[in-house]
Amino acid sequence: MKIVTIVGARPQFIKAAGVSRELRTHHREVLVHTGQHYDYAMSGVFFEGLNLPAPEVNLEVGSGTHGTQTSAMLQGIEKVLIEERPDRVLIYGDTNSTLAGAIAAAKLHIPIVHIESGMRSFNRRMPEEINRVIADHLSNLLLCPSRTAVKNLAAEGISKNVYLVGDVMHDVLQWALGRAKPLAAETISRFNLNPNGYLLATVHRSENTDNPEQLTGIVETLNNLDEPVLFPVHPRARKHLDRINYRPAANVRMVEPLSYFEMVIMAGDARMILTDSGGLQKEAYWMEVPCVTLREETEWVETVDTGWNRLTGSDPEKIVNAVRNFQRPESHPVLYGNGHAGRQCVELIEQN
Ligand code: UD1
Repeated sequence: MKIVTIVGARPQFIKAAGVSRELRTHHREVLVHTGQHYDYAMSGVFFEGLNLPAPEVNLEVGSGTHGTQTSAMLQGIEKVLIEERPDRVLIYGDTNSTLAGAIAAAKLHIPIVHIESGMRSFNRRMPEEINRVIADHLSNLLLCPSRTAVKNLAAEGISKNVYLVGDVMHDVLQWALGRAKPLAAETISRFNLNPNGYLLATVHRSENTDNPEQLTGIVETLNNLDEPVLFPVHPRARKHLDRINYRPAANVRMVEPLSYFEMVIMAGDARMILTDSGGLQKEAYWMEVPCVTLREETEWVETVDTGWNRLTGSDPEKIVNAVRNFQRPESHPVLYGNGHAGRQCVELIEQN
């Protein structure tokens, strides 16, 4: 089978690493990078670290408004699909690259496989929610990481070719944990921190970064916490932090975005994680690190139900309260699969 895979943003490189290896043992994959993320720290370092094959095509679309960015991707992907005539198009998650891949493939009647299908925040102000809804409704094979995702699809009338496979990010994390271990001591001391003696914070969602009041609320709270905070800064956040003229206090270490292995190490050894990222909420759970989610809702509701994740939004009082008074749950049920989601995805692609 010939499969065109569309990736473009950081979390998609990680997800593709969990599937590509498996896919390429029996099939021909053409990896298309839209160029949504283009800085080395956001893209190249992931291809190297995760042993992802170099993309066969890079559309070099870059940044822009949603319309500009998505339409440039759509044109580029359509051209590749017409030339390659693949049997399937594989898309991941909920970014503008996912949306463009779905629309281009659907119009050319090429069956679409969506990995990480069925996630919903029920907040249509999130660009990702719009991308997910459209991608799911155009997809022919819907591969879900959780039972909740399967139910979400059913509630929208989608039940055909829907499968629960678990989360491919879990596969990649398991693969990385052993490899990261020997690098842990050196990495933590490079940041001048001690295991379990710091918080890890990330912010990049538009609802947090684009609103000066909300962003100020979050970063001033980091300044007021009485323990070290490692704060790797996404380029979107960097721009907005410059705009609000943020000055980190002595406890906050603002650093460039981390590589995947650095993130696995620094997240695993953090006392607690504060984030608005979806991927990091799950990684925190799998590594049994308490998480504070800087959003009003989450798609990964099971992490909250089990007591390992607390939603605080950008409210300084709620964030401080969660950081100081978090009660570590006694149980840690298995969530989002058994670490073999990638193989299941490939088997289902072959059967459908
Ligand atoms: C995108 C996804 C989001 C995902 C995130 C992971 C959409 C709508 N959003 O958000 O779901 O969680 O990626 O990181 O697709 N920029 C750089 N260098 C880069 C990449 C981006 O400077 O390598 C800057 C751009 O100039 C832009 C900003 O970061 O101003 C945002 O980039 P964009 O690709 O629009 O979305 P993300 O915020 O990264």
